[in-house]
Amino acid sequence: MDATGRIPRSGMRAAALGVAAACALAWTGTTLAQQTKIKIGLMLPYTGTYAALGTAITNGFKLAIQENGGKLGGREIEYFTVDDESDPAKAPDNANKLIKRDQVDVLVGTVHSGVALAMSKVARDNNTLLIIPNAGADEITGPLCAANVFRSSFSNSQFGIAMGKVMADQTKKTAVTLTWKYAAGDESVGGFKEAFEAGGGKVVKELSLPFPQVEFQPYLTEIAALKPDVVYAFFAGGGAVKFVKDYAAAGLTKTIPLVGPGFLTDGTLDAQGESAQGLLTTLHYGDGLNLPKNNAFRAAYAKTFSTPPDVYAVQGYDAAQLLIAGVNAVKGDLSKRADVVKAMETAKIESPRGAFALSKSHNPIHDIYLRKVDGKENKVIAVAIKNLNDPPRGCKL
Ligand code: PHB
Repeated sequence: MDATGRIPRSGMRAAALGVAAACALAWTGTTLAQQTKIKIGLMLPYTGTYAALGTAITNGFKLAIQENGGKLGGREIEYFTVDDESDPAKAPDNANKLIKRDQVDVLVGTVHSGVALAMSKVARDNNTLLIIPNAGADEITGPLCAANVFRSSFSNSQFGIAMGKVMADQTKKTAVTLTWKYAAGDESVGGFKEAFEAGGGKVVKELSLPFPQVEFQPYLTEIAALKPDVVYAFFAGGGAVKFVKDYAAAGLTKTIPLVGPGFLTDGTLDAQGESAQGLLTTLHYGDGLNLPKNNAFRAAYAKTFSTPPDVYAVQGYDAAQLLIAGVNAVKGDLSKRADVVKAMETAKIESPRGAFALSKSHNPIHDIYLRKVDGKENKVIAVAIKNLNDPPRGCKL
C-alpha cells in the first residue's frame, strides 16, 4: 500500500500472479492425487467357520466396483487383503498393518463382532474411514459411533427384536435361546428376549457355548427335556450348517420349532438340504425378493461368480455402493473427508434388499422380512417390521 492507502499496480500484479501460481499448484496437486490409486483394505475371514461369509462379501464388493467401471471417483483401485480368522486377539495388529504399513485409504471389514469392535477402535484412533459389511455389534452404531465409521449391514438386536415379535404374535408362551457366547449372539438373543417378553412370552432358559464350537449334543438333550414352545438360535456359516442338521437329526424340528436370525439358513441351504426345510427366520434380505435391483444383482452375481448370492454378498455390494457415493461426491479427492462423510450419510442406497438410507448413527434403516425356507430359497413371506431403525443408544453424532 502507498501513503494514500491504495495498492500500487505492481503490487496488484504480483498478488494476481501469486494467486494464479497457488491455483496452478492446487490444480496440479488434485490431478496428482487423482492419478494415484485408492487403496482399499479388505479385512475379512477367509478361513474358519465364517470363511464363506468373507468370500461372499469380497465378491459382492468387487461386483459393485466392477459395475462402477472398476474405479472410484475416476481413480484406479488397489486392494490389500487380510484374513482376520474371526480372531479378536489378532484384530488390532491386522488393522494396524493395513493402516500403517499399507496406508489404505479405506478399511472394509468384517464379519465377527468381536473383531469389528477392535477394528473400529483402531479406525477411530487413526481417523481411518471404516465400512463394516456385516458385524452387527450394537455398540459400534451406539455409544461408540463415529463420523468415520459406517455400516452397510445391520445391528445384531434387529433380527431378534423382529423374531420375538413374530413369535409373541403367534402366541408362543415359552422359549429357549441358544447361541455362541459373544457380542453377536448375546445381542441377537437380547433383542429376541426383549420383544418376546414384551409380547407376553417368557424365555425360560438361555443356553450358550464358546465361539466357534459345534458340539451341540448336550444342548439338544437339554432342549428336548425343557420342551419350550420355540427355540431361538444364533449361528452362522459352517456352524449354522451343522447346528440345523444336528437339530433335525435329533428329531426336534417337528416337535419344537427352531427359529432365528436369517444367518441360520443364509448361504447354507445347499449343505443343509432337507434339515432346513420350512424354518422361519428374520432378516433384511430374502433370495426371491422381486425387486428390479435384486433381480439384476442376482443375475450379475451368478454370472460373475458361478454361484448364487446370499445376504453377505448383498452387504458387500452395499458397502461398495456406500463408498462409491462418498468418493464420487468429491471426484476422488479423499482429502475432502467432511464432504465424503456427508455424501455417505445422505446417500440413498439402491440395495438388492430394497432402497435404504442410514440412521444418524450410520446404520441402515431397513425392512425386516419374515422368511421361510423353501427348497434352495429363503422365501420372503411377510414384512416383520417396516423401516426398523436402531433405538438411540448413546450415539452422539
Ligand atoms: C457378528 O459377529 O456380528 C455376526 C457374525 C455372523 C453373522 C452375523 C453377525 O452371520
